[in-house]
Order: sequence, then structure tokens, then C-alpha cells
Amino acid sequence: MTTDAQILSALRTAGGGSVSGAELSQKLGLSRAAIWGRIEELRQLGYDIEASPHRGYRLLTAPDLLHADDLLSRLGKAKVIGRDIRVFQETTSTNDVIEKLARDGVKEGVVVFAESQTRGRGRLGRKWLSPGQKGLWFSVLLRPDLRPQEATQLTVAAATALVRAIALQTGLKPEIKWPNDILIRNRKVAGILTEMSAELDHVKHVILGIGVDVNLNPGEFPPELRKLATSLKIETGGTTSRSELAAAILRELENDYARVCSGHFAAVADEWEENCSTLGRQVGIRIGHRQIRGRVESLGEDGALLLRTEHGHIERVISGDVTLER
Ligand code: BTN
Repeated sequence: MTTDAQILSALRTAGGGSVSGAELSQKLGLSRAAIWGRIEELRQLGYDIEASPHRGYRLLTAPDLLHADDLLSRLGKAKVIGRDIRVFQETTSTNDVIEKLARDGVKEGVVVFAESQTRGRGRLGRKWLSPGQKGLWFSVLLRPDLRPQEATQLTVAAATALVRAIALQTGLKPEIKWPNDILIRNRKVAGILTEMSAELDHVKHVILGIGVDVNLNPGEFPPELRKLATSLKIETGGTTSRSELAAAILRELENDYARVCSGHFAAVADEWEENCSTLGRQVGIRIGHRQIRGRVESLGEDGALLLRTEHGHIERVISGDVTLER
């Protein structure tokens, strides 16, 4: 952890109490003057830190911005997901940034956030609206020991992690629409774009791109999306801390990624099914130029959707665009 992350972590652990300069300086192995210098820098960034000659430092409020050290300090000990966090003010797409890091050989678990994206993208070539400081737009690099056809398990794991994190932070009860949409009251609040580089029988790397509409107001969605999309702010009526939510998502993702990697995908699939609005429903699925209809029976062991088609047989669908019917 960096010095700033350690300072913020110590101040947070004090739970609203103060931490003396002496204690910080001993803990971090830095002079008290150096600690003071870092505190000043954090204040410049918008952290309201009270300094009292007797009691020491106390964190009053944190700004609504994404800051790598802050995220690291909130996350605590990350084994894989989030052991390296990078924040960009603006980028084309965080998936592009991760793709480059992947090609440079960076270890799995690195997470790239952007305050805004100029070319945010969704599945099936759609645009993903990513306005500044309104949401969480980030991507995670994974190098799982999976076969390419099992990569859908990671989208499923990301969906269950998102549902738990959003529920924990907001008290809302999001639902999953296979494979990658997170809905609240039938409107989309978050999406996952999984991109993969693979050889015939082995995944080289997977990029999980996650977008969550956190603090957007209704007027900030383009008119064509207003009936289809929502934000946590619209649903709760209040602002959600993006940093807290980000840390919660990464924590939950760490749990679910560990479940997938240790061969316990079945437990993730069970949880997915409990939260899935697609299960048991009559749906239409567009797969490229093909359109099929049927009833969703369950999730396969590899994360595929098992559809009982209108002709009565089971079809395994690994990707497609689902429309709920009736
Ligand atoms: C979808 O629902 O179609 C997927 C949306 C994924 C959006 C995220 S935002 C961060 C990452 N960067 C992108 O360009 N897309 C994903």
C-alpha cells in the first residue's frame, strides 16, 4: 500500500476518532513532518482532515472522487482483485486500457477506473454512456485457468458480486437479466462487458468491464434510455458514495472469482439463479442474425443459459440479446 493509502486506512480504522502524528509516523516509518506533508496533499484533493495539536488527525469527510490510494485503503487486503488500482480522469474505454496492460504482461487483478469515458462501449457494439463522476466505469484484468467456453462463468460471477455489493450499499434488491444486465424495477442500472483473448483450449486473459449508473439524475439519461435505464440515485432518492460502492464490488468480486477458480462455480450459479429475473420466463433471444424463443430452464455448468425452445428441446446459449416476453 502507498503512504497515502496507509494514512487514509489508519484514519478510517480510528472510526471517526483521531490518530496522533507520532502514531502515524511510527506506523509508516516516516518523520512527523513528512506525514504532515502528505496530510496537506490529501487536503488539497478535498479530504477534510482535522488536525489538532493534542489529539492528532481526524478524517471528517472524503470527496466524491475516485482516488487509487483511497480505494486501496477502503479495500484493505486484496489477494487478487484490486491489488493494483489505477484511476484515469478520462479515457476512451477502461477495457482498452486493460487490454494494453494485459499485452504488457501485467499481473491479473489490476483494476482501471475512469471518471469518464469518451468511447465507453456495451455489448453488441452499443455505446455506453459514461459521464464524469456520475458512475463507476471500470475494468478488471483476469488470467483464469479456464477453457474459453467456461469464460461465461466470469460474467455470471461478476453479476452476483454486483448484486450483493449494490444490495449491501443501498438496501435495494437488484435482479439479474442474463447474462450481463443488472436491473432494478425492470430498468437497467449496471452492465458487464466481458472481453476475452484465448487460444483454442485455454483462456489467455479476460477483461471484465463494469459500468454502474450511480448518481445520474433522470435528465442525464438521453430520452431514448429514460424508460430503460435507471441509477442508484433515482432508486434510493439519495447519493451513493462511489468509492464505498467500488470497494464493496471489488471485495465481492474477489470472493466470487475465488469460487470460480477453486471449482465452486455451482455455488455462484445457485446464487445467480436466486437473483435472476430471466429464470422461468418466456424469452426471445437474438444470437447474431438468428432469433429463438423459449422458456429459460436453468444455468448450465459453464454459465450458459439453458433454454427450452418452442420446439421442446433444450438449447445452450452462451451469448445473445435476451428480451423478456409476457
Ligand atoms: C452492457 O451492458 O452492454 C455492458 C456495459 C459495460 C460498460 C462498462 S463501463 C467500463 C467498461 N468500459 C467500457 O467501455 N465498457 C465497460
